[in-house]
Amino acid sequence: MRKHDVLVIGAGLAGQRAALAAAQAGRSVGILTKLHPLRSHSGAAQGGINAAVGAQDSVETHIYDTVKGSDYLGDQDAIEFFCTEAPKIVVEMEHFGTIFSRAEDGSLAARPFGGAGFPRTIYAADRTGLALLQALYEHLGSVDVTVYEEWDLVDLVLRGSRVQGVVAYHRRTGELDGFSAPAVVFATGPFGRMYSRTTNSHSSTGDGVAVAYRAGAWLKDMEFVQFHPTALIEDGILITEGARGEGGILKNGRGERFMSKYAPHVHELASRDVVSRAIYTEVLEGRGFPGGYVHLELMHLGKEKIESRLQEICDFCRNFAGIDPVTEPIPIMPGQHYMMGGISTNLRGETNIAGLYAAGEAACVSIHGANRLGGNSLLETLVFGKQAGIAAAAFAPTVPGAEVLPEDVRAAKDRIEGMKRRTEGPTPLPLRAELQKIMEEDVGIYRTAEELTRALGRLAELKVKSRDLRIPDPSHVFNLNVTDALETLHLIDLAEVVVAGALARTESRGAHARRDYPKRDDANWMKHTIASYRPEGPQLSYAPVAYTRWEPKERVY
Ligand code: FUM
Repeated sequence: MRKHDVLVIGAGLAGQRAALAAAQAGRSVGILTKLHPLRSHSGAAQGGINAAVGAQDSVETHIYDTVKGSDYLGDQDAIEFFCTEAPKIVVEMEHFGTIFSRAEDGSLAARPFGGAGFPRTIYAADRTGLALLQALYEHLGSVDVTVYEEWDLVDLVLRGSRVQGVVAYHRRTGELDGFSAPAVVFATGPFGRMYSRTTNSHSSTGDGVAVAYRAGAWLKDMEFVQFHPTALIEDGILITEGARGEGGILKNGRGERFMSKYAPHVHELASRDVVSRAIYTEVLEGRGFPGGYVHLELMHLGKEKIESRLQEICDFCRNFAGIDPVTEPIPIMPGQHYMMGGISTNLRGETNIAGLYAAGEAACVSIHGANRLGGNSLLETLVFGKQAGIAAAAFAPTVPGAEVLPEDVRAAKDRIEGMKRRTEGPTPLPLRAELQKIMEEDVGIYRTAEELTRALGRLAELKVKSRDLRIPDPSHVFNLNVTDALETLHLIDLAEVVVAGALARTESRGAHARRDYPKRDDANWMKHTIASYRPEGPQLSYAPVAYTRWEPKERVY
């Protein structure tokens, strides 16, 4: 068994930042990750990171934009803290060596992003996540942190209400082992792979969120699923909001620049929920191109700008769609992109389980409320990753030593061996495909009680089937069937929470658009959804939203 003071699960930006903070506080720190840190999903973030560093911008405006973008469901105290930290965090990342793009005068270049009152998205061309990840990983080498690669999280171990550590599965050897720590930070990223059309990496399967949920952690606001307006029609690859920030425009099948109808002031730079619904409506009402999509046009920006600011987008379009964005429009449709919900935390990353912390997209603080602004996600990983690391480091010495016991490991091993012994029953990937079909068909951009009720019924059947889940490959070394099985079970449990929350919330707010309840209902629904695990399905309760200064108003862009 391995032992640490602080164990971080996940090696993306949030996990690495938490580990750095805990190690700087003098704790023994381990990071357990299913991927090499530089392969983490943080690296897929393209367009940038928000911080009010420009001379004419202000933290105050960043706070206001984020509150408004959240459709007034974000906790205002957390948002104030978040936006105030932003300039320090970005400058720190620059000092760690991030190669940010520059303005003519040498200052940090910033581009406009949706829902922002000022160009405040700092970027490294269209590879911002990768640039940050690289710099942070290099900086992590300055402290003593042990990284355990290719380990899948299986269980969180609690004794009474105290965290003991985790049980994990080693892909390389097939070994199951315990990692003991009194303070554990879950930074395992999103769970967008419950959809088939998603900008999320294949590893985005909600491992930490599902494991925490089953162990008794509360999940918050899971019904709020963000669809990014511009995903490549072929396979959902992200075409960064930076493309619209640089001046890209959207046109329907009639050649009309339709966003002026939906967002008369800022057009393509409205918030994501607004732009996604607009695109979807154009196609649904027969104004899309045959096959169902619209065009994102960049051609008018010119070759030099497109190829220097949107290098990765050029590669994606040329390699995956066979089109050249310099001379041709890009066929796009919205695709699942981000989960506003996650493990419920406060702004120190603390959950309802003492010793368990969460940060990044696995967590819900909540700063994004019902709709996240582009560029606030990379920022969230760093601001709250650091806070969770500080809090976990402070907590660890206050409790007696933690210990994952052989029987904890055996319980997990028995479950996996049981799936391997089965000769009948569904296999993981077809089951996951069924889940994705349900979510795509019934839990999309627009929702109704009828669709959501049907989704719940279909998910209940899927859950019954999943009890017979079978791992057909009996081998031990790199048996990815085991990983697929674990991940599919995580996704099914989380999908049920998304749908239950969406069915219960009889209003439209941010990314949650109910056709049968088209209005925001502040009198009844200005509250966070909290889900607790029950074997028969989630139990929902509600918690108040924190207000400081901003009264809810109608959101117009
Ligand atoms: O469009 C983008 O580049 C995505 C950014 C984000 O989700 O923050």
